[in-house]
Amino acid sequence: MRTNNTRRPRFRKSTIGLRCFRAAATAILVGITFAPAAQSADAPDTAEGMRLFLQKANCQACHGWAGDGRKMDNQMPDGSNLRETTLDRAAVILTIKCGRPGRSMPAFDKLAYSDGRCYGMKEAEAKKLGLFDPPATLQPREIETLADFLFAKVIGKGAMDRAKCIDYWGSATDVCRDLK
Ligand code: HEC
Repeated sequence: MRTNNTRRPRFRKSTIGLRCFRAAATAILVGITFAPAAQSADAPDTAEGMRLFLQKANCQACHGWAGDGRKMDNQMPDGSNLRETTLDRAAVILTIKCGRPGRSMPAFDKLAYSDGRCYGMKEAEAKKLGLFDPPATLQPREIETLADFLFAKVIGKGAMDRAKCIDYWGSATDVCRDLK
């Protein structure tokens, strides 16, 4: 039996949940809009690296979709501006594998703190400093692919502008329209 008593709380609940819903809807939209563009980017490896950056490893949650530190998730730590990093390829790979204990950058290699391969630390020591859980763990090959993508499209490429945005996504997506 449907009465006003059962309807009203339902309505109120959805109002309270509106902010969560909007965040989720944005995330879904980003996924739907950008997934095909990521697949059609130039080199297959770049497309795969982009997919890892945006989706599987969700680097964009803290570093932003452009890697410029304008994070996608307000509740995540502030990731640095990767477009301006001075790290070389080996250092980027080390940072992704090992993360930065105590500095909110997660370790994406699941063996990172198993045997001292990262900064000579084991798990207990890294956890004491503070270890952020990664959104997903990555295989060494995926981390190489991710580094290829970063050096092709993000690192040293300057601030994101409209032309770079169109090149990045493979088409003039909505996010590019707000850029100069
Ligand atoms: C939970 C948030 C978070 C996620 C997810 C994250 N990062 Fe980070 N990242 C950070 C923070 C915070 C720093 C700055 C650490 C510091 O202060 O030393 C950082 C630093 C880095 C650096 C070092 C930059 C420099 O110049 O020193 C690289 C490279 C990097 N992240 C790449 C990535 C990649 C690639 C991914 C996805 C595989 C990723 N990050 C996912 C938070 C995050």
